[in-house]
This record gives sequence, C-alpha cells and structure tokens, in this order.
Amino acid sequence: MRSLAMILTFAFFTLCSAAAAEKPVPGPLSGPYAVALAADGATICWQTEKKAVGLAVVKAEGAAEAKTFTEPKAVEFHALKVTGLAAGTEHQVEVFSGAAGGPALGTLRFRTAPQAGAKDGADFAFFAYGDTRTRKDAHEQVIKALVAEVERLKQHTFVLHTGDFAQGGSDEEATAEQFFRPAAPLLARLPLVPVRGNHEGGTDLFPKYFPIPDRPEASGHADDLCFDYGSVRILALDQYTRPKSEDGRMKWLAEKLAEAKDRWRFVTFHEPMYSTGSHGGNVGFRKEVESVLIAGKVHAVFVGHDHNYERTKPINGITHLTIGGGGAPLRGKGFDVGADWSVKFAATVHFLTVAVSPDKLSFKVFGPSAKGDEFEAFDAFEIPKDCAWPGARPGPRPEPKPAEPPAIKPAA
Ligand SMILES: [Fe+2]
Repeated sequence: MRSLAMILTFAFFTLCSAAAAEKPVPGPLSGPYAVALAADGATICWQTEKKAVGLAVVKAEGAAEAKTFTEPKAVEFHALKVTGLAAGTEHQVEVFSGAAGGPALGTLRFRTAPQAGAKDGADFAFFAYGDTRTRKDAHEQVIKALVAEVERLKQHTFVLHTGDFAQGGSDEEATAEQFFRPAAPLLARLPLVPVRGNHEGGTDLFPKYFPIPDRPEASGHADDLCFDYGSVRILALDQYTRPKSEDGRMKWLAEKLAEAKDRWRFVTFHEPMYSTGSHGGNVGFRKEVESVLIAGKVHAVFVGHDHNYERTKPINGITHLTIGGGGAPLRGKGFDVGADWSVKFAATVHFLTVAVSPDKLSFKVFGPSAKGDEFEAFDAFEIPKDCAWPGARPGPRPEPKPAEPPAIKPAA
C-alpha cells in the first residue's frame, strides 16, 4: 500500500513537472524588430511582460559561427545593440529570454547597410508607408502586399514609417495591438526608420520604442534623426517635441543637407507642408523649414497625417509625397481642392517603393486593384538627380480654404 502511494505521488509530481515544462512562455508584447540600421549592425528591440535579461544570437549568412549579445541587466523593454557585423550582409537574429539563452521569443532577418562606395549602396530599393492606426485588417492587407513586394524585388533594405503608428500612441497595449502585431511580418524582414506622428505626441513611448542612438544634440534634442544608407540620406523631423532652439535645429538641418550634397536627399516628417487632404498643409511648419529644404536641394519629402496618397509636382524643385494610407480611416480631399500643384490624389490604402540608381529615383505606389484581391501600382514617376531648385526662397503659399465635406471612401 505504501509503495502504491509513493508511485502515485511520483506520478503526480512528474505530471505537474511536465505540465509546467509545456506551459507556453508568453511571447513578447512587441517585436523583435530592428531600428538604427548601420553598416556594422542595428538595434534589436522587443518588449516582455516581465523583466528579463535578453539575449540575441546573430548569424551572418554563410558564416560557420554565430555571435551572441547579452543585455547587462533585466528589463521589460529590450534595446540590444548588435555591432561588429559585416556590411551589406544578411543576418539572422534569434532572440531569447534569459542570459543562458532561455525560451526563444522570436526571430528576424536583416541586411546590414552597404559599405561606403559599394554597388549595393548605389542601386537598391527602399519602402515607405504610414498612418497605420486603427483598421487592423487594412494594415494587415498593406503589410501582406508590402512583404510580397519586398520579396519579389529581393531588396532587404529598410522601411520608412511616416508616423501615427497607433490611435493611442501613449498606450503600450494599443501600440502593440495596432502596430507591432499587424506589422510583425514586415518588421521580421526590414529595419524601421520611424517618424513621430501626432498620435505619438510628446510621449516618452516614441524614443522608448525607437531608441535611435546618437540622437542629434545639435538639433536641440527633438526626436530628429539622420539616417544614411548608401547614396541616400534621410532626415526625419519630429514636429511634436519642441527643440531647445529652432535656429539651432534649422542650422543642424542645413548642415546635414549640405554634407549630403553628393547623395540623394530626403526629408520626412508627419504633417504635410502641401496637401489637399482633410487636414491640409501645415502652413506654420512650411514657413519654418521650406527655405532650408530648398537651399539644401531636397529631392523629395515624405509625410503622412492625411489618410490618402498625394503627389505634388515639384514645388521649388521638391516633390511632396503624402503616404498616409497604412490602415488609418481613409479620407478624401478637404483643403486647396483644385490646387495646380496636386498631381495625383487617391483615398486608398497604399505603400510606396523607391528604386535608387546613380542617375534617377524611380517611384511606384501600390494599392488594391479594382478587384481588391491584390495590390497593383497606381502611380509611377521618376525624379532626376538635378531638380532645378531655384535657391532659398519660400514657395507659393495658398491660404487653406475649407471645401465641401470630404467624400469618405470606404475601406478597400
Ligand atoms: Fe496624424
């Protein structure tokens, strides 16, 4: 009898142990994803429910051995810088919880930025979209088509997001639900270049989620960033955290553009300077920065905020692109309807690809086809190296005027 009790007790604890062992480890709330892409690495981010020491195992394509990076202390939000990697090389990253390589939390792949002067730094494509927010189905539709295009082109470079990641940008769960989970298939393949939108506002979540090292002191501590990839320089401006000095910030912007005189030059921020969309152009911001962008010979400006696609003709040499159809509710025209600078407008979900070559930029914008079952290009255009910028002087500034109530196109 006694031995039977011992056997039953042993069996009970064995079953309990097995059940505990099989209990699934909670996945990360967000991530893993990569930001701060550089030629020698990136910052790998993810968020866990509880504090833990994170560990990333990074293996270059074709390499015999992997490199292991371990966080120095237990944290909930993980931003692990992986460095010392070979430039222009595919890497696989496996993320684990625990310094001893505990439960696996996820994987991603990314390609380090090209080495200076390398061919893959002159001929490549990158991707852009924005305003993802509340319509998860629409966001997932964009992500599916975008990932398919990334793989079709085999361009494992980076994706730019023009801001408004989630409706409740100060809410971690809303950001995870509306942005990180739908975007996971994309973020598992492309590092992100983020822009702060009004829904991220002045909260600390933006720099927490997108911990770009070396945020520029000279710009006045706003969440601006300067990102270089081969022949491209992208300057992202934060419109919602005031810099210590506007003059200092404009000086920084002018210097960064002048430094990039031999590169393609893009500037991105959230609220457009020119838009016929439901919010219209931000005239105050236009007054602040336009002359600097013209003097700096910017090729194109990427924005969001208005939930539509819009392309302007070059205004003082600069093409303005509103790419705000990543999942937020679509909206029609609202201001400056009929403006001659508006070349193309579409209230549809979409994303954009930019093929970079030494002589020209080739843009394509993709949205749902008439059948709605797959995406197709609905706008395509090129920008030459020399855009005939007229010099530093403000562009035309038509006063915004209210239009008839905008026609709201239903979700595609
Ligand atoms: Fe916005």
